[in-house]
Amino acid sequence: MNMKKISRRQAMKAVSGALLVIPTACNHIPRGKLPDSVFKHGIASGDPDSTSVVIWTRISSTKGAVNVDWSIATDKNFLKIVKVGQFATDSYRDYTVKVVVSDLLPGQDYFYKFSFNDHISPVGRTKTLPIGHVKKVVLAVATCSNFSFGYFNACDAIANDPTVDLVVHLGDYIYEHGVDGYGGDVGRNIGRDHVPSHEIISLDDYRKRHAQYKTDQGSLAMHARHPLIVMWDDHETANNPWMQGAKNHQANEGAWEARREASLQAYYEWLPIRDPLKSADRKNYWRHYKFGDLASLITLESRHTGRSQQISYNEYLPKLKTKQQAQAFLSDVVGSEERNMLSADMESFLKSELKESVQSKRRWRIIGNQTVLARSLSPKLEGTAFDGLDDALNPKAKKMLEELLHLGELNLPADLDTWDGYPAARERFYEIAKEANSRDLLVLSGDSHSYWANTLSDANNQSMGVELGATGISSPRSLRALGGTALIKYDELNAAHNKEIVWSDGRHQGFIRLQLDHQSGHADFITVSNVKTPIYKTKIIHSVNIHHNHGSLDYGKLPQ
Ligand SMILES: [Fe+2]
Repeated sequence: MNMKKISRRQAMKAVSGALLVIPTACNHIPRGKLPDSVFKHGIASGDPDSTSVVIWTRISSTKGAVNVDWSIATDKNFLKIVKVGQFATDSYRDYTVKVVVSDLLPGQDYFYKFSFNDHISPVGRTKTLPIGHVKKVVLAVATCSNFSFGYFNACDAIANDPTVDLVVHLGDYIYEHGVDGYGGDVGRNIGRDHVPSHEIISLDDYRKRHAQYKTDQGSLAMHARHPLIVMWDDHETANNPWMQGAKNHQANEGAWEARREASLQAYYEWLPIRDPLKSADRKNYWRHYKFGDLASLITLESRHTGRSQQISYNEYLPKLKTKQQAQAFLSDVVGSEERNMLSADMESFLKSELKESVQSKRRWRIIGNQTVLARSLSPKLEGTAFDGLDDALNPKAKKMLEELLHLGELNLPADLDTWDGYPAARERFYEIAKEANSRDLLVLSGDSHSYWANTLSDANNQSMGVELGATGISSPRSLRALGGTALIKYDELNAAHNKEIVWSDGRHQGFIRLQLDHQSGHADFITVSNVKTPIYKTKIIHSVNIHHNHGSLDYGKLPQ
């Protein structure tokens, strides 16, 4: 995983400040050129271990059962083919093709392609996980790619970053809304209406939506260039789900279980990930990826298998008038020991894998996590730049500001769908880490549509590591409705109010590039200038270094 051919400085130059039109040797789907119509959803790879990886494509314009040939080689010209095979697909799996290619060498680049009749797919590049001593790994951390909100330019930027070993997508890979829902206005303006036009509910709906997302040019390029580690968040099924329902699932949309199963079936069909042994187990989607002696990456499932129902401010906030009432609400309702985020099986997997990672003396323990883990209590806005702001706002933004003022007055969490809505579960999560002797968690979080650099600590103020939050590939932070200046101020006030928040910025779309070696970590927060057109520039707007310090992690001195 040590890309020696290009220096970090060169790489940063490649992704910052200049239009990204740099062709790379193995990105075979440059912008503006659609792949062969039979392979119009491109190719992808992912879910690697040290000897195997999943390769993926989809056949369009066909009927009945078909056989698709695949091959994998150590060179992009396929002079050194190491394996070939055939995969049978059919309408029962929406003509997707997914092969777990095994008996590969660890830490090795591979090239793969598919053929069907006279059609040949683009060539993809992939990589197995390394074993033994690993000097360095570079992860591109992505989340929240909403087709209607804009072009996946950040995916294109990731495709064109030759330093990246692997992409980690933290969820919200697709969104469920119809054209009259979230992001619909933007989609209409930029010609990216959701397909199908209604909110997706059935298996056919979810398949069509995945198919649409796989036509974005940035997504095509990223999947062709890098292997993917992916986990789902909420919108792969519906907004804010829990074990038995979702905020965005209504009674007239049929049984929740049927909708969830349809969404997960389509997910397994359309993502380059290993299938569960039994379809009944497909909710139990968590992994431990091992990068030799350097890093463990453990991914969580926090939506469908253990999560208690979200507490709704709509129900409680109108009744909370005083700080005492708010504190009682926080300790008795939100703080109930009964409230779970992770299932018992997920927790026991986390426990055993963290222990294994510590015992194996890997340098880093990364957690792929859906929602923000650090505490984020609302700052008091009255008496600040927010006074008088509501005069300039539309009714929806005005309502949002009123709620923020109320939350700030009462010192309540900004979002109860995050771990702030499950504080007892957060402490159990930390207990598991402490039992494994791992207070050095490097948590990667999505969902918020904002960048974050947070420290983490348990209820007794013991340091538990750090958290990097990725902003959306295209999804904007809802607080943007208050205006750019107000959002800057809000982020400043929020960081000043919450000791775990070191820095946050909700004004951008982009990704995080995280580089880890045995000495330290380095994260660049990389923005794209625009998602309304496919023309964009990238910029590193912030960077942090991450150091091991007395059994935990901190940011040390910020880079100059
Ligand atoms: Fe999202």
